[in-house]
Amino acid sequence: MKILDGKVVSQAVKDDLKASTVAWKEKGGKTPHLAAILVGSDGASETYVASKIKNCEEVGFKSTLLRFEAGIEEQELIAAIEQLNNDADVDGILVQLPLPKHFNEEKVINLIDPEKDVDGFHPISLGRLVQGLPTFVSATPYGIMLLLKHYNIETAGKHAVVIGRSNIVGRPMSILLSQNTNPGNCTVTLCHSKTQNLKDLCLQADIIVAALGKVSFLTADMVKENAVVIDVGITRVADATKKSGFAIKGDVDFENVAPKCSYITPVPGGVGLMTIAALLTNTFAACTRK
Ligand code: GUN
Repeated sequence: MKILDGKVVSQAVKDDLKASTVAWKEKGGKTPHLAAILVGSDGASETYVASKIKNCEEVGFKSTLLRFEAGIEEQELIAAIEQLNNDADVDGILVQLPLPKHFNEEKVINLIDPEKDVDGFHPISLGRLVQGLPTFVSATPYGIMLLLKHYNIETAGKHAVVIGRSNIVGRPMSILLSQNTNPGNCTVTLCHSKTQNLKDLCLQADIIVAALGKVSFLTADMVKENAVVIDVGITRVADATKKSGFAIKGDVDFENVAPKCSYITPVPGGVGLMTIAALLTNTFAACTRK
């Protein structure tokens, strides 16, 4: 069993980006600039956004964080997005999800200029992905593709089972794995809460991507020998032994599944770090392709 090490690979991606940014600026290019919008004070969202900002600094990007109280009017958020759309210095815009309940997330995401949609959540970005056109790919599935590529994992002709059909992870993941690319060319089964015989399907899988957000959902009896297992889960679970008061748990029962796998991602230290590396990659592309 080998670990797909998100720490090592994300650092390699970031080192490349840092060098590319220096080279780009030496040629007279502008500094890549990511703007993040955070509404409310959800603990996990605070952590993710802080990490995105810190990582921008690490690779030499500029970043802007716009914070709003949970109770702001929708109009205020709309005005902020429009301002960022019109700001020529801003290359990438992300609105951290989830938004407080009174917002219509779909409406808010649709306001982002697709040219700056570095999260890849806009319907135009997702539509371009479906058609195999150049686009911003949602950062988590994109990060997983970078991880598979780094480790040269054979995917062509393999059966991939993706558990979870979110617009952010499961659905784009299923599309990427089925594309005529490397990694790609998988036969993909996209599973969800109404799937019957999930265990049987998983037992047929060469590659499993667990992206449903249920701690330790994928157990050893659901995984065949030598499978590749990618764990997208990042659930906070109370843990008094940790300084923060919680531990981060994945969707895979790592301890029992890992011995059966050819490759597996740990949580933490796997997919989460790759998500940020992919977001930075999209931001650099948004800046330099103009
Ligand atoms: N919420 C959970 N994952 C993400 C992500 O990748 N981007 C944003 N904007 N919000 C998220």
